[in-house]
Amino acid sequence: MKTFLLLATSLLVLAACNKPSTYQPAAGDSSETIYADACARCHNPFQPGKPLGIVKSLNPNAQQVANKIQVGGTMVMPAFEQIPAERRLTLAQWIIDNN
Ligand code: HEC
Repeated sequence: MKTFLLLATSLLVLAACNKPSTYQPAAGDSSETIYADACARCHNPFQPGKPLGIVKSLNPNAQQVANKIQVGGTMVMPAFEQIPAERRLTLAQWIIDNN
């Protein structure tokens, strides 16, 4: 019973982890830097010439990817509300170009 309660509590804590990220890019940060700082701990690290392989769509759309960055996922990926909209879009295009 104790183990069960512990497990249930950790699951709750895990689910609650998906809160918005407080990450904020510095003024001159490139998309590559933003990606390395905010995304690569969960997604593939960027290596020039190697596809990132993040976006699953065969016909990806930068605005859709930017929206995903804004709202995050349901369980794990946080919402990146502090990345300004136009930089989310630039980052999304960079991801698509390197996907
Ligand atoms: C805490 C881990 C985590 C971080 C940090 C994170 N992601 Fe994710 N991301 C995920 C997971 C897990 C998924 C797949 C499940 C989902 O959609 O929620 C995902 C899905 C995505 C997708 C959708 C891929 C597709 O085509 O379905 C994109 C795009 C994406 N992430 C971009 C980013 C970008 C850009 C950043 C950094 C600004 C980032 N992620 C940071 C965990 C993370």
